[in-house]
Amino acid sequence: MPSLRNVIQETHRTLESAGIPDARLEAEVMVMDVMRMPRQSIFAEQESQVSEQQQQSLNAIVERRLTREPLAYILNYREFYGVNLLVNPDVLIPRPETETMVEHALFMALMGMESRELVIADIGTGTGAIAINLAIHLPAARIYATDAYDATLDVAAYNIRMHNVTDRITLLKGDLLEPLPEPVDVIAANLPYLPTDRIPTLQPEVQWEPIAALDGGPGGIDLIGRLLKQAAAGDRIKPHGVILLELDPEQIPEARLLATNAFPDAEITVELDLARLDRLLVVSLSAPDAEY
Ligand SMILES: C[S@@+](CC[C@H](N)C(=O)[O-])C[C@H]1O[C@@H](n2cnc3c(N)ncnc32)[C@H](O)[C@@H]1O
Repeated sequence: MPSLRNVIQETHRTLESAGIPDARLEAEVMVMDVMRMPRQSIFAEQESQVSEQQQQSLNAIVERRLTREPLAYILNYREFYGVNLLVNPDVLIPRPETETMVEHALFMALMGMESRELVIADIGTGTGAIAINLAIHLPAARIYATDAYDATLDVAAYNIRMHNVTDRITLLKGDLLEPLPEPVDVIAANLPYLPTDRIPTLQPEVQWEPIAALDGGPGGIDLIGRLLKQAAAGDRIKPHGVILLELDPEQIPEARLLATNAFPDAEITVELDLARLDRLLVVSLSAPDAEY
């Protein structure tokens, strides 16, 4: 039987020669999955033997991965902000840059938390990644998580149950802010923001993800523009509320203009992601030192 060390090296080589990005990391994650071992063990136990059955399970994963199916869909999970989430082709695979949204919402909430119960809306929740992390870290908050698609909401519901936050998150189906039953303090929205004609040019893995989670219309910010209009038109956000919008760095100037038109008195700032790129537009409807 081959050793763990040899199996990792061999898997790495196979993935790398097929042009799979991050081949070494993916080889390790695959081996961790079939061996049911945490990361530290695959390094500490390099001489352990890999059984015939484990090798076959690994081969099946590698075979699927060579078709450029995303590893997260093959393994059916992705870690996001320290929690494991079920993923399947009905949902976008949560991205590391979206952790900026969670961090910023938590920072703002913790700054003014003792004052009152926060009501938060995660618009376009997908796996529930943003809502679940906010619920875990803000036990006093009430959270609405919305999406336009039943199959997506089924995945979010499963993840919400898995993380024991069903009592704090209400799932709603509908277009953007329409299903919200009351004005909220915070709107957090990672909506589709890819321009339609860019999608076919992106890496093969992206083509496996639901088009409705990617396509932001011809310029990429159609949904974001519509959300801002809905927010300005109705009673979906409180007068002191904050809107957090994830965007492509290149879209920030246009989105900032849309936000200024919708909310001329708002303070608008931009937060950087982990790669130090402009990622998050923060639209604070009242003065910056007002209670959040
Ligand atoms: C980019 S994905 C983000 C998913 C998740 N929030 C995350 O960060 O991983 C966008 C999500 O918005 C949903 N969506 C698309 N159009 C929508 C609409 N008009 N109203 C509500 N949700 C929508 C998609 O189904 C998808 O789940």
